[in-house]
Amino acid sequence: MHQPEPSLLTVDHLTKIFHIRQGFSSTEFHAVDGASFTIDAEKPEIFAVVGESGSGKTTLARMILGMEEPSTGTLRYKDKSVADLSKREKRAWFYKQVQPVFQDPFAAFSPLKPIDHYLYETALNYKMTSKQAADEYINEVLQEVGLSIAEIKGRYPNELSGGQAQRVAIARALATKPSLIVADEPVSMLDASLRMSIVNMFRELKENQQVSVIYITHDLATAYYAGDRIAVMLRGWIVEMGPVEQVLGNPLHPYTQNLKYSIPKVDPDDVWDEKVDLAVVEADEYTRTGCKFAGRCPAVMDICHNHVPPDIEHQGRTVKCFLYDDEAMNQEPATEDAV
Ligand SMILES: Nc1ncnc2c1ncn2[C@@H]1O[C@H](COP(=O)(O)OP(=O)(O)OP(=O)(O)O)[C@@H](O)[C@H]1O
Ligand SMILES: [Mg+2]
Repeated sequence: MHQPEPSLLTVDHLTKIFHIRQGFSSTEFHAVDGASFTIDAEKPEIFAVVGESGSGKTTLARMILGMEEPSTGTLRYKDKSVADLSKREKRAWFYKQVQPVFQDPFAAFSPLKPIDHYLYETALNYKMTSKQAADEYINEVLQEVGLSIAEIKGRYPNELSGGQAQRVAIARALATKPSLIVADEPVSMLDASLRMSIVNMFRELKENQQVSVIYITHDLATAYYAGDRIAVMLRGWIVEMGPVEQVLGNPLHPYTQNLKYSIPKVDPDDVWDEKVDLAVVEADEYTRTGCKFAGRCPAVMDICHNHVPPDIEHQGRTVKCFLYDDEAMNQEPATEDAV
């Protein structure tokens, strides 16, 4: 009998608890709080993750990349639990299959080494046995990101533009033939004019190389353009998740609506620029009982203050909100007009 393929990635109630010291006491909070989703093995996709600063996007990415240990919950890659992999298995297999791309394209390269050094190192490490085979292979991966070896050979990172350096970083990630790239704000340090071309490249990689991309961004415009599905994060929760046209075209969660309509037209990053300081008013959103958005929600109801909203399947997406929970709505009429 034909066995169904396991999914590529299964994120199951993943949680990361951090402790923050305040004087002599220490408070714990959930930076990622029960996040669950899967990436299909047979159909590659761009899975966008958005949310304001401090919502847990980077922490989620770091757990998926094996850089941060989950406090609870499980992470499965193909049919294996990532927590059960030995160090050797991680190096030989997992870290090749799941590759990171970070925000600052220069951070991954030493200013003292020509940038092609990294590509040769990765290619030779991967499986190329000769310099000549590595040459051909590197040229191939560079072409996938719209560059050629002639353009970068012998050049130092400071001789490249941010866009070129990010392309090299992506080429290096591709050199181990990954099936998943986790890109944490890969375009936010680039000029607005370059962002679309990099994001477009992710779409091409998905089509041509069968690579799935978890694309973390502040920028709803590129998420909308590149994403197949989107997850919207709020203080560690995924509050809305589904096809990008539906979630951003017709957001259901009051927080998603808030994100969408508070974006200034000129610079989509502006609104989320502030780093979240746990001492600020919203700090209690991490730890409050009930819905974490209750303090800011224009449609808040009594129940939201005391109960964690369930994940409701509604209009083709999952939304964590009592507004779409028939049972709760029958019991308790909204105190204010629903948005
Ligand atoms: N190592 C750590 N120790 C304690 N707290 C941490 C640690 N790493 C992150 N945090 C906190 O966890 C929360 C989530 O942070 P995270 O970096 O995942 O958010 P983010 O969504 O990526 O934000 P941004 O959009 O600013 O990149 C923040 O309040 C952050 O201060
Ligand atoms: Mg981040």
